[in-house]
This record gives sequence, structure tokens and C-alpha cells, in this order.
Amino acid sequence: MTQKRILITGAAGFLGSHLCDRFIKEGFKVVAMDNLLTGNIKNIEHLFPLANFEYYHHDVTKFVHVPGDLDYILHFASPASPIDYLKMPIQTLKVGALGTHNLLGLARSKNARILVASTSEVYGDPMVHPQTEDYWGNVNPVGPRGVYDEAKRFMESITMAYHTYHNVDTRIIRIFNTYGPRMRLDDGRVLPAFIGQALRGEDLTAFGDGSQTRSFCYVDDLVEGIYRLLMSDYAYPVNIGNPDEITIGDFAEEIIRLTGTSSKIIYKPLPQDDPKQRKPDITKAKEILGWGPTINRSEGLKRTLEYFMTVIPKSV
Ligand SMILES: NC(=O)c1ccc[n+]([C@@H]2O[C@H](COP(=O)([O-])OP(=O)(O)OC[C@H]3O[C@@H](n4cnc5c(N)ncnc54)[C@H](O)[C@@H]3O)[C@@H](O)[C@H]2O)c1
Repeated sequence: MTQKRILITGAAGFLGSHLCDRFIKEGFKVVAMDNLLTGNIKNIEHLFPLANFEYYHHDVTKFVHVPGDLDYILHFASPASPIDYLKMPIQTLKVGALGTHNLLGLARSKNARILVASTSEVYGDPMVHPQTEDYWGNVNPVGPRGVYDEAKRFMESITMAYHTYHNVDTRIIRIFNTYGPRMRLDDGRVLPAFIGQALRGEDLTAFGDGSQTRSFCYVDDLVEGIYRLLMSDYAYPVNIGNPDEITIGDFAEEIIRLTGTSSKIIYKPLPQDDPKQRKPDITKAKEILGWGPTINRSEGLKRTLEYFMTVIPKSV
């Protein structure tokens, strides 16, 4: 069997770097692409000596050229945390729209299968709970989060259009909150924010009254779901996430217990359009991919904490 070649955009980011590791392990030739807008080359530098690994520093909102054959494309380039996309709203819209268009064009010209990284944010502040793939969402297009949510909704639409009108082999994943090693401590997402504050002995800042919910999926489980979806023949969106739901208040207490800090929880007003609840319905992933999460929060948090202890200066 000939060795398969895969392009991964956003490769130096949190999820992209874990995907590079997984596809190298599966025996693929990996072409990594990133412009380091929010990523870190350190996440993939261990792969640079490998013959099966190439890196292109490139902005995918510009025309994307990759010499040679490609069998698969994973489009993961995009600012992904609220802090990042609120700081870079135009880049976020461009990478979801122009970037996705460029990569669909590349998939078409190479006859490659493409999987695009969508998000639970397409459901907005959901009126249906847990969220099923057939729920259309409740998104404010002109609110601050609209730049991310609508970019991803456009990404899904143009992907389906290339599937329908150009017969491109496409996959769409809706990723729910994922965590693990290589997240940035300062990316503003609740999990690294709490862990960073706890490890520095600061009070944990929770937004709202602590009753909003989130469901956190460990990165290795997500990567397995992505792998299975890519290898499946299913072209419609599939939720991948861990349905184990927890309130933000309880989660803050869990982090305080886990880190053994004497920090307290302080509550601040909820940001505009912040979703009140989040929990994936993963029936489809179970039925179509035989997928479900295998790593519970206490094990996942233990592994993540070990990573963060190596990146937080020893003096704190
Ligand atoms: N982490 C999550 O919980 C989560 C949830 C839902 C969806 N997603 C999606 O998964 C993808 C990866 O998210 P992440 O958490 O790894 O974020 P990340 O910020 O760590 O990684 C994104 C990467 O994309 C790169 N990038 C951004 N714009 C680019 C451009 N124009 N050209 C080339 N590279 C560019 C960044 O430099 C970075 O390395 C994103 O598309 C995000 O929307 C992530």
C-alpha cells in the first residue's frame, strides 16, 4: 500500500499539533501549514527531524499551493479562543471564509478528502439541550462572538456546497470544548484560566453566577473522533465532545481541590452572548463512528495539570 499524504492547517496550534503526532504515528506523510498567528512552533518542533514531516509557513487566506499529491486535508487553522478572535475579528472571518474556500479548491484540484473543523459555537446560546446536529442554533451575527460563530457557519455552508456541486469528498466535525497539553495558559478559555490562576495562587475568576455549564473533552478522545470521521463515508456534521456536563462553579471547585490551592472563587459579570449551557448529543458519533469518550475529567485534568506545571515558572 502506498503511503498516504495529509495536509494539516493550523498545525502549530493546540489541536493541529496533536493531529500531526497522530497521523505521523499512523504512518502518514504529514504536511503541516501555519502562519503562527496563535500557534507555537514549539508544539511541532519535535517532528522537524522526521523524513515524513514537512512544514510550510503560510497564511491560508492567501492562495494555497502544495506541490505533489495529497490524499487528505484537515483544515484546523483559525483563532479559536474568545480572547484570540475578539482581538483578531477580521483574520477570524477571513480564515473561516477565504481560508476554507482556498482549501476546498485545493481538495478539488488534488482529488483529496477534506475535513473542516467546525465548532459547537455554531449552536450559539442554544435553545435545545443537549445539542443535536439537526439544531440550527441561536447566533447573534452582529454580537462580538459573531465573527467566530458566523465564520464557522459559513465554513459549513461552503463545504456542503463544494460537496454538492463539485463532488468534493468532505467531512464536517463540530468540536465541543476540548482540553489537554499544549493549550495556552493565556488563551482566555475557562480551563487554562482556572488552572493558571490556581497554580499562581490567585483567586479563580468565574463569569456569571457559576451556574452556566460546559462539557470538556480530553484531546486524545477528540483526535480519535477526528480520525474515525475522516476515515468514514459520512459527509454531514458530526458532534464530537464529552457529554459529561459541569457547572462553572463546580468546575472551579474541582480545580481548587485538584491543585490544593487556597484560592477563592470570585464572580464577574457574564460577557455578552456567552452560552449558558453546552453539552453535545453524541448519538450520531456513537452510531456512525462507534466513538465515545474514554478519558474521564479527573484523568484528563491530571495529565493537563502535569503539562501546565512544566510551563509555569517554578517560582510561582
Ligand atoms: N480547542 C477547542 O476546544 C476547539 C473547539 C471547537 C473548534 N475548534 C477548532 O479547532 C481548530 C484549532 O483550534 P485550537 O484550539 O487548536 O486553536 P489554536 O489557536 O491553538 O490553533 C489554531 C492554529 O491556526 C493557525 N492559524 C490561524 N490563522 C491562520 C491562517 N490564516 N493561516 C495559517 N494558520 C493560521 C494559528 O497560528 C494556530 O497555530 C480551530 O479551527 C478551532 O475553531 C477548537
